[in-house]
Amino acid sequence: MERSFKFFLALFVLLVGSLFAVEVFSLPKVTPELKTEAQEYYNNECKACHRWARKFAAPPMKENVAQYTEKPEEMVRYLMHPTPKHPETWPSMEITPLTEDQAKMMTAWLLYILANPEDPGRPK
Ligand code: HEC
Repeated sequence: MERSFKFFLALFVLLVGSLFAVEVFSLPKVTPELKTEAQEYYNNECKACHRWARKFAAPPMKENVAQYTEKPEEMVRYLMHPTPKHPETWPSMEITPLTEDQAKMMTAWLLYILANPEDPGRPK
């Protein structure tokens, strides 16, 4: 009796522990403040190479972001550690890697702009 109680207690502790061990990925909410901050970051750190809808020194941002609608985590990871994606067509992206917060902010904002292309803050 006492042994099985201990067993179930241990099982319970393990279960609850594993629930909390799972890190839930989430992007920040696109507030007016986030929009302003992301737009400023984009103008300083991304615009030099990217245009929204056409090729420039880099592939069009619209197409870049569209690849990640179903997997925003991967975009966050890419911005933190850019790796070669299209070595046949483009050089690899040489930028100051974004911090996790910056990468999440930019991913949230760019996905928002993709879904809301009429937003006045959409990059050119
Ligand atoms: C120095 C030029 C340059 C700057 C600045 C730059 N990029 Fe890029 N970016 C590139 C190039 C070149 C590629 C294509 C890389 C490849 O295919 O490997 C690219 C590709 C991308 C992709 C698509 C990657 C893929 O999976 O196909 C995303 C998303 C992206 N950039 C976002 C950004 C963001 C956000 C910023 C600003 C923080 C930024 N870039 C700043 C040059 C730049």
